[in-house]
Amino acid sequence: MFNLVLFGPPGSGKGTQSEKLIEKYGLIHLSTGDLLRKEMKAGTPLGNEAKSLIEKGQLVPDEVVVGMISSALDANPDAKGFLFDGFPRTIAQAEALDKLLTLKKTAIHAVLFLMVNEEELINRLVGRAKTSGRLDDADPEIQRNRQAVYKNETLPVAGYYQNQDKVSRVEGEGTIDEIFDRICSNIDPLLEA
Ligand code: AP5
Ligand code: MG
Repeated sequence: MFNLVLFGPPGSGKGTQSEKLIEKYGLIHLSTGDLLRKEMKAGTPLGNEAKSLIEKGQLVPDEVVVGMISSALDANPDAKGFLFDGFPRTIAQAEALDKLLTLKKTAIHAVLFLMVNEEELINRLVGRAKTSGRLDDADPEIQRNRQAVYKNETLPVAGYYQNQDKVSRVEGEGTIDEIFDRICSNIDPLLEA
């Protein structure tokens, strides 16, 4: 199996690049944000619980997202590999993911870290708010909170993977295709190895 984490702040292009990466490398896309929005849309108890946190730009509890990821891994026993987008977002999630993958006799092979400056991030999300319908895009105050939560709770996850020597930093500004090429030039040598 070949498993990747696409890492970066809200608005850094994880979802955008994931679409292209899963196609090129035949991976299964696991976005906890997308999974949570599906639960919210279906009005499940989990979705209703998550809604009040997502609306404020706060993280949902680790147990909730780890449970969703665990189910998704089990549901795809024949996968060539997984692309994790927006997960793990805390050290506890990263540790839980390592345990789940070890049980499946696999691991994270690389973490691609999209680097984008904060002003560009806010501009992108303000742009997306016009069409996304996402409750957490609408209000600039909530967007700022998402960036703060990222810095406090999620950024340490980069250090966690840095200690495993798995992080590649990728310049995340430019056209979507330019960024995709930069990401691929980090992945391809790993596949040839
Ligand atoms: P989630 O859905 O994961 O959102 P996020 O991390 O905040 O990131 P976004 O989806 O907003 O941005 P992105 O990096 O995917 O960028 P995109 O490609 O869309 O999480 C939402 C919420 O769910 C969290 O706040 C939390 O409450 C909860 N949650 C999710 N996972 C969790 C977890 N593991 N633990 C706890 N809670 C969790 O691009 C952004 C915009 O920019 C788009 O409009 C796009 O078209 C545009 N764009 C993309 N690339 C470019 C480019 N190169 N140039 C110009 N514009 C671009
Ligand atoms: Mg996304």
